[in-house]
Amino acid sequence: MKVLGIETSCDETSAAVVEMRSDGSLELLGQVVLSQADLHAPFGGVVPEIACRSHVEMLSRVVDQCLADCDVTPDSLDGIAVANRPGLIGALIIGTTTAKSLAWAWQKPLVGVHHLEAHLEAPLLTGERVDAPYLGVVISGGHTDLYRVDASDDGTPIREHLGGTQDDALGEAFDKVASVLGLGYPGGPLIEREALKGDPTAVKLPRSLLDSTSLDFSFSGIKTAVRYQWCGQDARSAGPIDGAPKREDLAAGFQCAVVDVLVEKVTRALEKTRLDQVILGGGVTANQYLRDRMIRELTVDGSSLRPKRKRRPTATRVVFPAREFSTDNGAMIAARGAQQLARGEDAGLDLDAFPS
Ligand code: KG4
Ligand code: ZN
Repeated sequence: MKVLGIETSCDETSAAVVEMRSDGSLELLGQVVLSQADLHAPFGGVVPEIACRSHVEMLSRVVDQCLADCDVTPDSLDGIAVANRPGLIGALIIGTTTAKSLAWAWQKPLVGVHHLEAHLEAPLLTGERVDAPYLGVVISGGHTDLYRVDASDDGTPIREHLGGTQDDALGEAFDKVASVLGLGYPGGPLIEREALKGDPTAVKLPRSLLDSTSLDFSFSGIKTAVRYQWCGQDARSAGPIDGAPKREDLAAGFQCAVVDVLVEKVTRALEKTRLDQVILGGGVTANQYLRDRMIRELTVDGSSLRPKRKRRPTATRVVFPAREFSTDNGAMIAARGAQQLARGEDAGLDLDAFPS
């Protein structure tokens, strides 16, 4: 079964074709990902109007290019999958309207894919198993969420929300801290690169854990702490003030602090749910420092936050997507959509888009 996947929920315009074999395994036949980062960079974040305009302009070309690259004709497709929630509503409408037009013109079944479910199933693209039940951790520009994921009788994932951010999403915090430090946009990869030169212990930064059992997150305090260290308390200051720590030390300290918090919250969630496998997804999981620490600390003794408290190994399996499938991409939408189509789903031309 060959499926075209379309992703336009935020600032990537992407199309991919995935082939699902009879044993359920997947092969990526081709993909085009067009990042709008350069368009949003002058504003330090995604500007919805600019995102929509660029999706309108580029999506048909991206789909054509993808089909040409993988030498697939519309005739040979078995269905179309499009991210239809959650995301920027205007951007989602452009993706869903295009997908509906193609489904009508080519007479193909059409399914709407939940963007966060697709992030959690991205490991399928590199042959990893994603078998429920598991603890799902989505860390992206718009979300920082913990889910218990179970499978229903027909294999549809059932997500129970265990905790989420009370203010900034983690990717958003990376982007804002990078902007404060004058590193540019998107901030995640730039902070990661800067942090490689820095000492994570050189600057003292807060870790917000909320109460002792909470599975929620709060990243705005640490973002403000970085700002005060770099710019002082004057809201108009762009920094660095005299005596400010080194930029690379602030980047490393920030990255270390937020990963401390993530490790702690995921450990709590594993203890609470007694699940033993963790699947992570979303743009922030492209971060190699985060990957290394999560694998090391969730599967062995000891949390850096509470060195004196003995904690047993909590997970037998910690799974990340390949780095290229961490950030938004059409392949994960096609991968998730292929499973929905295989179950006979067809939303037809009634398919709608939803911001949440
Ligand atoms: O999943 P994604 O591509 O889009 C949303 O669904 O939001 O995530 C984008 C976010 C951005 O905030 C970006 O800064 C962050 O992922 N990101 C990273 C890295 N690469 C992308 N954050 C930390 N380290 C990275 N290497
Ligand atoms: Zn995403």
